[in-house]
Amino acid sequence: MHYEQPQIAEAAATLTERLKTLDDKASILRAPELGALYEQLRTLPNEVKPAFGRELNELKSQLQAEIARVEEDGDTRVAIDVTAPMDVNTSLVQLLPSENGSQHPLTKEIEQVVDIFGRMGFVAEESREIDDQYHMFETLNFPKGHPARDDYDTFMTIETDKDGDPFIAPAHTSTMQNRILRKYKAQLEEGGAIAAIVPDRVFRNEDLDARHEHTFYQLEGVYAARGVHAGMLIATLKTFLEEYYSQKLDVHVNPYYFPFTEPSFEFGLSCPFCEAKGCNVCSHEGKIELLGCGMIHPNVLRAADIDPDVYTGFAFGCGIDRLVMMKHAIEDVRHFESAKLDFLRQF
Ligand code: PHE
Repeated sequence: MHYEQPQIAEAAATLTERLKTLDDKASILRAPELGALYEQLRTLPNEVKPAFGRELNELKSQLQAEIARVEEDGDTRVAIDVTAPMDVNTSLVQLLPSENGSQHPLTKEIEQVVDIFGRMGFVAEESREIDDQYHMFETLNFPKGHPARDDYDTFMTIETDKDGDPFIAPAHTSTMQNRILRKYKAQLEEGGAIAAIVPDRVFRNEDLDARHEHTFYQLEGVYAARGVHAGMLIATLKTFLEEYYSQKLDVHVNPYYFPFTEPSFEFGLSCPFCEAKGCNVCSHEGKIELLGCGMIHPNVLRAADIDPDVYTGFAFGCGIDRLVMMKHAIEDVRHFESAKLDFLRQF
């Protein structure tokens, strides 16, 4: 299109260029340059007005035709896939060299843990990174105002749920117990068992040091059936740990307290790193307290509509980072979330 009027020719060039970059093509018709030309038209002497006006209308029609053409063709721009490991708009695909990447040590170990429990008949479930107080506390026999809630200090949202309580970043994988019991309840009625593990992230409001992180991993275990007793809990954990550390271990069980298990235990083992002789990993004690566990409290079974007079179960919660630190003699838990390549490349 050729325009005699220099201002219109200039605006035509600018606006057709701009049109190519606009997401909302029709907005070009509201361009200030176009408005200014219409403004100018009003003040022009009568002898130039018709020619100027005609060309201005032609420019507008040209732009409208262009908008219509693009709309008809659909959006022809190449979509940007933000998850792609390269720029999809370039024809030459350059992937990062894969030998620079490796699986995170925790991911690797979690796969192994899931495999061992899988061979013992446990299914793996995922937890979540935001949950409500009902699952985190109420279903676990911590009523509102229960002092033990303070042991699970974590992060909360400003937004609240229908009970007016903030949502929380779960401080333990036990937040999944009620969902697991409900999901697999039918297996109990068929004479079977509920057997699940949850290896997933948890969060705590911690003062950070070599042994404390605000974000870490736990392994929850839930088992329920008829006639389950504490001996089964201890045997299950011992079998798992001996398989995981590929050696015979001495385990010890001490009484402890959790609102959601009764009785509750603290479970420890002889240090697999120094063969119980005493080293830095076990603070020269030869043994390590590893996890919390116990027999599922009747109220927790009831909260999932399971009759505690018919069925019993055990549960445990173990810090996965701790497990892995001991296996590989990692001295500082903060390495895991540090993204330090010199740490990650060792695995
Ligand atoms: N959820 C507990 C904690 O994080 C551990 C635990 C799990 C204890 C299951 C008993 C049974 O401290």
